[in-house]
Amino acid sequence: MASVSTRRDTSGQFDSPFSAGMPALTQPTPEDLAKEIARTKEMTDKPFGVNLTILPAIKPPPYAEYRDAIIQGGVKIVETAGYKPQEHIDHFKQHGIKIIHKCTAVRHALSAERMGADAISIDGFECAGHPGEDDIPGLILIPAAADKVKVPMLASGGFGDGRGLAAALALGADGINMGTRFCVTKEAPINEAFKRQMVENDERATNLIFRTLHNTARVMKNAVSDEVVAIERKGGAKFEDVQHLVAGVRGRKAMDEGDTDGGIWSAGMIQGLIHDIPTVKELIDRIVADAEEIIRGRLEAMIK
Ligand SMILES: Cc1cc2nc3c(=O)[nH]c(=O)nc-3n(C[C@H](O)[C@H](O)[C@H](O)COP(=O)(O)O)c2cc1C
Repeated sequence: MASVSTRRDTSGQFDSPFSAGMPALTQPTPEDLAKEIARTKEMTDKPFGVNLTILPAIKPPPYAEYRDAIIQGGVKIVETAGYKPQEHIDHFKQHGIKIIHKCTAVRHALSAERMGADAISIDGFECAGHPGEDDIPGLILIPAAADKVKVPMLASGGFGDGRGLAAALALGADGINMGTRFCVTKEAPINEAFKRQMVENDERATNLIFRTLHNTARVMKNAVSDEVVAIERKGGAKFEDVQHLVAGVRGRKAMDEGDTDGGIWSAGMIQGLIHDIPTVKELIDRIVADAEEIIRGRLEAMIK
């Protein structure tokens, strides 16, 4: 899945206002990732990023080989996310790659900055995917991080319109990162039924699964995620108790068949503010125009 960042780069380190990222681990092997990077380069001459999510897995994927595919593919920006990114940051930086580290806590942002991250993406509790275990919404997390982080910083989690962009800038971020909102665009390679469901859903249509396993994930509320939550609520649940429900293969089948109740799908609270399926260009133009209108119109009028 692509997540895209709209930023005002105050440092001049990045040479484009927009960057899009593909999650490396959605490709089954490093060879597949290399092919996907090559395919992306055929489709655009714009810069794009790759996300490398570092999971606390018992049997980790071959990270070094995924990194090699990214480096040899000529990718210039990597978004790291997850646990202990140091060796990944070091390796990428040796090859001149800029690192955006995405995290859900100020302390993790500061530690990534010390490790050499060039930018931080701070992901509030509203976000799709893993919000961490601190449950701090963006309204607090973004300014708390902005007070301490020195490198450029993106606000992430719950962004999808011009109001969000203007708010993020007011809170001290240099731009926004969006996941769920980009899933509901014409270009997103997602079954139309899922896009329509996210348009229909309101801001309450998410579930937090894996809470009791201390690996919380925010996903779309549906029959399967409701069942996971119900099993966890009984107490003492182990991953094996919900594995059949959350399996990636089940999620992929549900996506292929357009069965929005068939598997787990990452989606955030921003669903409540998604009312259409525009092209990416229409979406970006609208967000930027609306944010400018809010800043020049509504906000400026307040101090006159
Ligand atoms: C369908 C989907 C898949 C995602 N996959 C990943 C992933 O593999 N790694 C990751 O770090 N974040 C992943 N995310 C999280 C996003 O990168 C981003 O942090 C999050 O979506 C921001 O919150 P928002 O959805 O409210 O914009 C995913 C998000 C979505 C919606």
